[in-house]
Amino acid sequence: MFKRKLGYTDLELTVTGIGTWAIGGSDWRYGWGPQDDELSIRAIRRGLDLGINWIDTAPAYGNGHSEQIVGRAIKGLSPRPLIATKCGLAGDGKGGVRGYLKKNGILSEIEFSLKNLDIERIDILQIHWPIPDGDIEEAWRAIQIAIRQGKVRYAGVSNFNTAQLDRINKIAPAASLQPPYSMLKRDIEIDILPYCSAKNIGVIVYSPMQKGLLSGKMTANRVNSFPDNDHRKTDPLFIPPLLNKNLCLASSLADFAAKRGKTAGQAAIAWVLRKPEVTSAIAGIRNESQAEEIAKAGSWSLSEEELLEIDGIIKDNTF
Ligand SMILES: NC(=O)c1ccc[n+]([C@@H]2O[C@H](COP(=O)([O-])OP(=O)(O)OC[C@H]3O[C@@H](n4cnc5c(N)ncnc54)[C@H](OP(=O)(O)O)[C@@H]3O)[C@@H](O)[C@H]2O)c1
Repeated sequence: MFKRKLGYTDLELTVTGIGTWAIGGSDWRYGWGPQDDELSIRAIRRGLDLGINWIDTAPAYGNGHSEQIVGRAIKGLSPRPLIATKCGLAGDGKGGVRGYLKKNGILSEIEFSLKNLDIERIDILQIHWPIPDGDIEEAWRAIQIAIRQGKVRYAGVSNFNTAQLDRINKIAPAASLQPPYSMLKRDIEIDILPYCSAKNIGVIVYSPMQKGLLSGKMTANRVNSFPDNDHRKTDPLFIPPLLNKNLCLASSLADFAAKRGKTAGQAAIAWVLRKPEVTSAIAGIRNESQAEEIAKAGSWSLSEEELLEIDGIIKDNTF
């Protein structure tokens, strides 16, 4: 599988990373419905066996549950995969999450993550959301303390805009940014990608299949039968009229991919990787066969002709 260097760091990431939001379980407002832990562990190990060398997680995913599952999946592996986790988003006591970026909270959350993951050092620690905006500098300074203590190797951020990146870069340069990017969410092409390229910030994009919508396997029936604890039930992209448009896009993408012996999900991932500024795409998995599919997507380099064809599909199916 192809690898790309993350910004100014010495980390070489495979172009797909394993996303573990859904394996955090359903016991909170942003869950993905029921998920079997043993299946999650097998999925992660399958992705690693096939060559993926890094995993994205967060303490917010099921209040530590996703990190604990990752910890179990990587236990005893040598070399162990690179681990990217996050900080600054905690349970609000009512099943939801809230942003907090105060120094003591960040430092104790790092300890929580290290314990959950059962590792000595986090390879990439990212501020999950810039909320509250006024505290991003305080959180960034706290993370620099953890780097000096040897508990964190490199620090990045997620969901930050360029003005917020400017503010933290004055304190210490960000190694990475984690923004959303898919055929249905292309905002980063305007300013984020050029900015990160100019500043040598690695870009690890999330939700390349738009939470499964572009996998080619999502159907209106499946969406209608989402359990109440699958947060996608209330995501506007999964609700008509947008749902119908999005499923048409996925279906055209599936036809395009099938002619090449691939799937729509693999095309969606390969498409975000056409941008050289994108270091890696994080794809969420819930079972071994999904792990196999996303691992293969990492070695599909779309040709100019294929990209033109996909452009046409996107134009015909978005508004
Ligand atoms: N920093 C942030 O704020 C942020 C936000 C979102 C995500 N992330 C990270 O990015 C990762 C990826 O994003 P994501 O999970 O939202 O979206 P995604 O990667 O676009 O979609 C993942 C979902 O698609 C479905 N899927 C995966 N492979 C498939 C396959 N081969 N065939 C059919 N369906 C497949 C699975 O859901 P079903 O099987 O249920 O359909 C899976 O959970 C997350 O896991 C998380 O680590 C970070």
